[in-house]
Amino acid sequence: KPRILTGITTTGTPHLGNYIGAIRPAIQAEGQAFYFLADLHALIKCQDASRIMQSRREIAATWLALGLDTDQAVFYRQSDIPEIPELTWMLTCVCAKGLMNRAHAYKAAVQENQQAQDPDKGVTMGLYSYPILMAADILLFKADQVPVGRDQIQHIEMARDIAGRFNHLYQGDYFVLPNAQVDAQVEILNGLDGRKMSKSYNNTIPLFASEKQLLKLIRKIKTNSLEPGEPKTTEDCTLFQLYSAFSTQAEIEAMATRYAEGIGWGEMKNVLFEQINRQLAPAREEYQRLLEAPDYIEQVLQKGAEKARFYAAPLMDEVRQAVGLGKFI
Ligand code: TYM
Repeated sequence: KPRILTGITTTGTPHLGNYIGAIRPAIQAEGQAFYFLADLHALIKCQDASRIMQSRREIAATWLALGLDTDQAVFYRQSDIPEIPELTWMLTCVCAKGLMNRAHAYKAAVQENQQAQDPDKGVTMGLYSYPILMAADILLFKADQVPVGRDQIQHIEMARDIAGRFNHLYQGDYFVLPNAQVDAQVEILNGLDGRKMSKSYNNTIPLFASEKQLLKLIRKIKTNSLEPGEPKTTEDCTLFQLYSAFSTQAEIEAMATRYAEGIGWGEMKNVLFEQINRQLAPAREEYQRLLEAPDYIEQVLQKGAEKARFYAAPLMDEVRQAVGLGKFI
């Protein structure tokens, strides 16, 4: 069975992009699953402790509400696994600085500082070496498949590079080279303003927004100014993209015909709302219930951490031996 692993950074409320890009494919995947709350990654972008705390609860409740079977899957918090930061250091010591210079998130930060005197203004070492922590997440559990949105592909490629480098330097098959698994149909879901749906752009639709809020947000999605009756193109249309993410092939084709026939945007937004709401309503209720049960979630995650460390500890022993940090006797 392939090993599947993915994580979500705990800096905000999970949105439809997280669901379509990572959570839904992960829950549907067949294999031995490792899913986690990337709460060490959260510290890179957010120094608001209460926000991180809240987000960790919400993201945990989200996975459980969507029916993750925690008897089968290993479900844990990154910060409960001390082997992850330990492995991060070992990998940091074999990772070329030049590789990190090429990371999109770092390059974007430097780009933003173009006018400033210091190109690295506001760039912490956490942000800079973010991909190494992510490599440790993946390599520690010998994951084969990593379901992610398109924005994360570069990080998986970096994890492959780092794994290959370590295996080569220490002459052994310590790490498995992971593959990104990207939903070809959606890849990156767009947000209210037509840009990538992202916490950083403030254009998200929360996965478990209330019915009222969901409808309100869908009505806010940007469209062009074509009137009802005028034929419309499905390309680059956020409404159509969202509809497709929640529909079967037959439904998508039928909707494309309605576009050609000139469906009005108001009507389309109502149809889209019905389509999404119908699929999310049952999990939404369960989510609300789980948010009121932190004891239960804590217990699930602690059990998960125990299971995760069962896999992590032996590999970490091997890695320590490999680099010369094994026990004396
Ligand atoms: P994060 O928290 O930014 O996003 C979590 C997952 O959601 C996907 N995603 C999207 N997919 C489609 N459309 C969108 N608009 C959209 N927005 C977000 C992301 O691609 C991601 O799969 N570094 C990671 C977390 C992480 C991780 C890992 C992932 C840490 N360690 C190891 C996989 C394996 C991140 O910040 O994702």
